[in-house]
Amino acid sequence: MKKTIAIIAVTIVAELILLVIFVQSGLYNVSTLSPDPGPLKWIFSTTSDNSVKHHAQAIVVPQEVKALSEGTASNDSPSDSSMIAEGFDHYNDMCVTCHGAPGIDRSEAGQGLYPQPPDLVKSAKELPPQNLFWVIKNGVKSTGMPGFAKTHSDSKIWAMVAFLEKMKNMTPQDYAAMEKANTSMGNMNMNMKMSHHEH
Ligand code: HEC
Repeated sequence: MKKTIAIIAVTIVAELILLVIFVQSGLYNVSTLSPDPGPLKWIFSTTSDNSVKHHAQAIVVPQEVKALSEGTASNDSPSDSSMIAEGFDHYNDMCVTCHGAPGIDRSEAGQGLYPQPPDLVKSAKELPPQNLFWVIKNGVKSTGMPGFAKTHSDSKIWAMVAFLEKMKNMTPQDYAAMEKANTSMGNMNMNMKMSHHEH
């Protein structure tokens, strides 16, 4: 029995030494062009999926976001529409570069990331709103996905989630129409500000 324990202990120490030698050697390729080997990929993605699930489970989803997610929002109310418009504004500014949108490819920077930023139309169909909220708020270490908690309030982040729930059913034409409406709104605001300055 004592001998078995000694053998196990020596084996563990030897493995740790090998691990340190490997880490120090620089042999592992950190290039984004070199996909992680299967077992490592499994460790990273399973750790990440379960971490999000665990941390998001207690988050209470606002009623209007829940209704949008379940498709029970009977034609968007004016408050839904303003929330979705606010979410679109953030999305179009900060997320399209990496994730793309209906009818819009990921930018060159987005294409160069590893792991690849997922198509959020698919994510919004697959994940509950509290998981989307948690990831947008906290980000995901070592992936390129930023956490927006430092710069955005919870209500702004819920607006982004509301928009994602809307985007999952959008055509490229729908997205382009929102972009157009947003630009003309932006111009209107700018004109208002400018004319304000003149007085
Ligand atoms: C610099 C690139 C980058 C930007 C900008 C970015 N993301 Fe991400 N995002 C990623 C990457 C990479 C992942 C994948 C992380 C992983 O593999 O765990 C990700 C994952 C996500 C996920 C999880 C999806 C899933 O299926 O698990 C959500 C939700 C998300 N991002 C939303 C957003 C939103 C909303 C914005 C804008 C406010 C945004 N992201 C901006 C790179 C980015």
